[in-house]
Amino acid sequence: MTQGTATLINGTQIAKSLRQDIKTRVARLKEHSIIPKLAVMLVGGHPPSEIYVKYKQKAAKEVGITTEIHHFEESVDLDTLYACVDQLNHDSSVHGILVQLPLPKKFSSQEMWSVVERVFPSKDVDGLHPANQGLISFSNGAAHSPEQGFVACTPLGCLHLLKTHLGDLEGLHAVVIGRSRIVGQPMANLLTKANATVTLCHSRTRDLERHLQIADVIVVAAGIPKLIKAHTVPEKAVIIDVGIHRLEDGRLCGDVDFAEVSAKVSAISPVPGGVGPMTIASLMNNVCLAAERSI
Ligand code: GUN
Repeated sequence: MTQGTATLINGTQIAKSLRQDIKTRVARLKEHSIIPKLAVMLVGGHPPSEIYVKYKQKAAKEVGITTEIHHFEESVDLDTLYACVDQLNHDSSVHGILVQLPLPKKFSSQEMWSVVERVFPSKDVDGLHPANQGLISFSNGAAHSPEQGFVACTPLGCLHLLKTHLGDLEGLHAVVIGRSRIVGQPMANLLTKANATVTLCHSRTRDLERHLQIADVIVVAAGIPKLIKAHTVPEKAVIIDVGIHRLEDGRLCGDVDFAEVSAKVSAISPVPGGVGPMTIASLMNNVCLAAERSI
């Protein structure tokens, strides 16, 4: 598929084929009387989080994974959240636990991450526990070897898109924009493990454009609508846009100015229909993997 001169990296289609594979694996688990189950903790009334959780429930149902949602009022205290994580950690029918982020603003960043870090690494299908994040750097690089734990869903989805489009990433120069714990940092580590040469840019980077000019691959997770313009990127670039923003007119856009950039570069993932469906399919893959490891 093409748009302007760029090939469109179709996350909706690639996620569909990933879900098909997961469906087959879930059916095999059922032959062992195992039904994969994902527990989701949702706190307060953050509308985008409620929508994301609905998407996750729908995708789980489609592949045969059961879900249970633990929805807490915004007034909930930290100890109640810890108690819920503890109960789920010890419930053998639950294979994966996900704490939907962000938590309400009354919790400090440290408190928010302390809830995530209380999840047993073996059930951390979000791949956000420090033990799982560290394993990316220290494992032998096989994406799903048992000792590797779980890889965070958005970077895992981005890597899948890149490998589907490019094949081997060895020797390519990859620039990641954004150093968040959920996307940028693990993305840079994953690309390094895939033998790319990686530059991690962020809000304090001087002269972002200089780094972009020599990029073969650009993963943009800056959280700024239409940050990346055509004149800043080379024609050879393959671009993965992680951003998702609602414009005043109701339309969605990413961190890349799609209209102008797609007319110049080699390939680009659209928003919507790029990274979003891949994040959810990667989560389903991780839940399935957790259930497979329980055998
Ligand atoms: N909020 C935005 N992205 C994510 C994610 O990948 N995992 C969780 N748990 N919450 C999120």
